[in-house]
Amino acid sequence: MTIKVTKPAPPSDDKRWKLVDVTMRRNGYYGHALIETLHSVQDAFGYLDDVAMQYVAQSLGLPLSRVYGVATFYHLFTLKPMGKHTCVVCTGTACYIKGAGQLLDAIYDRFGVRVGETTPDKQLSVMGARCLGACGLAPAAVLDGAWLANQRPEQLVKRIEEVINDEH
Ligand code: FES
Repeated sequence: MTIKVTKPAPPSDDKRWKLVDVTMRRNGYYGHALIETLHSVQDAFGYLDDVAMQYVAQSLGLPLSRVYGVATFYHLFTLKPMGKHTCVVCTGTACYIKGAGQLLDAIYDRFGVRVGETTPDKQLSVMGARCLGACGLAPAAVLDGAWLANQRPEQLVKRIEEVINDEH
């Protein structure tokens, strides 16, 4: 007899969840895929937050405590960044060739932060991702969950400034 397990729906329609789903499916949704799955969340989103950890726990049929345990034990995992706004810049091959390095340089020149860092005023955290699964949009970034395609350095910096200033 086959037991049919219903998998939870992804937390949002953000296409990065597809990358996470592919990893879990490839591993048959077995619990031993936990570390690989958390890596794929981090590669796609730049960090792990509560929503992602709950989704992974439900999908793999693991207790949430186990997922948190692994995520906090290994220092290669980054929990939700401290900044009010998060900009994930894709540094996968396609994006890199199309200028991801210049995007990161421009962010550094304007805000003084590199990948993995948060501005002293806690307004902006910058994260890197290996491939966001949308190479046709290269170079791509995701700012507070919104996709930004074919970015030029000055365009991305301006968009980040707008998001930060919107709140003031
Ligand atoms: S390399 Fe950036 S989306 Fe694939």
